[in-house]
Amino acid sequence: MTKPFDALALGSIYLDIHYGEFPFDPEIGIRSETETVGNEVQLRVGGSAANFAQVGSGLGLKTALVAKIGQDRVGNIVTDILNEQNILRLIFTDPEVKTNVSSHFTNPQGDTIQTTAGTANLALDGEDAMRVVRNYFDKISALYIGSYFKLTMLQDKYEAIVKSAREHDVLTLLDHGMISNVVNTGHIEQVKSLVRNVDVYIPNEQEFLTIWNVNSIKQGFEKMLSLPKRPIIVVTRGANGAIGLDQDGSIHDIPSFKVQPKNAVGAGDSFNAGFLKAWQKKFSMDEAIRYAHAVAAIRISENTPPSKESVQALLDK
Ligand SMILES: Nc1ncnc2c1ncn2[C@@H]1O[C@H](COP(=O)(O)OP(=O)(O)OP(=O)(O)O)[C@@H](O)[C@H]1O
Ligand SMILES: [Mg+2]
Repeated sequence: MTKPFDALALGSIYLDIHYGEFPFDPEIGIRSETETVGNEVQLRVGGSAANFAQVGSGLGLKTALVAKIGQDRVGNIVTDILNEQNILRLIFTDPEVKTNVSSHFTNPQGDTIQTTAGTANLALDGEDAMRVVRNYFDKISALYIGSYFKLTMLQDKYEAIVKSAREHDVLTLLDHGMISNVVNTGHIEQVKSLVRNVDVYIPNEQEFLTIWNVNSIKQGFEKMLSLPKRPIIVVTRGANGAIGLDQDGSIHDIPSFKVQPKNAVGAGDSFNAGFLKAWQKKFSMDEAIRYAHAVAAIRISENTPPSKESVQALLDK
């Protein structure tokens, strides 16, 4: 049975302000008590779920987005930008919260500084999210969970959401994102339990090593293979490629495309959207990772978002 939506993304949303070619020394950062001047500036909607929904939509997937914003000017801009895209918006608004904003500074060498503020993402309530997501189980083929650690109010609900999604034949994907200083061992146990229950698990290398307390990806895979139940896994390694562990237990080490990154924000979410698209088209794991690399490479090195055509052109090169 085909369902009307290829994926629903649940997670964070930001108004992203990108400062490109912004001069700063990676060791010093941006100096206090001075004015640092750059030229390039771009407004985008970002955040893990929003990036995934947008990149997926650009690749021709029918996507839906569950997230939270405030009833403020920033929220209006976010809504305006999303309105221009073909995404089903299931966005909570709340006068009590401030829409999250994130500023990304990239210097000419490609180093980045990121700052964020706002309260809306943190206020996305588990019960609310569950209610909306449940309503869509019959209409979606996949559920994407991004930025697990940032949305603390959802942490207790994810496992129930995932289990019930799978009962409805919804493919579940998890990218838990960075492990910050506020993440404690309880959170880590909770996410490990969630990982066992999803279909596809896509952390980056650092996150994978930290969560599974191992020194190498290979050692982590051995740990995963000893679990009674596990997802397929793809560990991304930035410019160094990605390594997958498929359901049979075989390993797929696939190099990234060589590109000059202009703005690395959203690389992971773009990779994930590309991977889902390829997986839904029944590509092999090798092909799906290669496709995902191409999507991410275009996202970080070009000014226009990845499209089916631009991804195919890179794959054919
Ligand atoms: N410098 C690069 N050159 C080519 N491809 C890259 C580069 N950086 C990232 N990518 C692509 O993006 C994918 C994800 O990158 P990475 O492993 O850095 O994820 P991440 O740290 O989770 O990213 P994010 O911070 O966006 O969540 C890689 O597998 C690769 O396809
Ligand atoms: Mg990531």
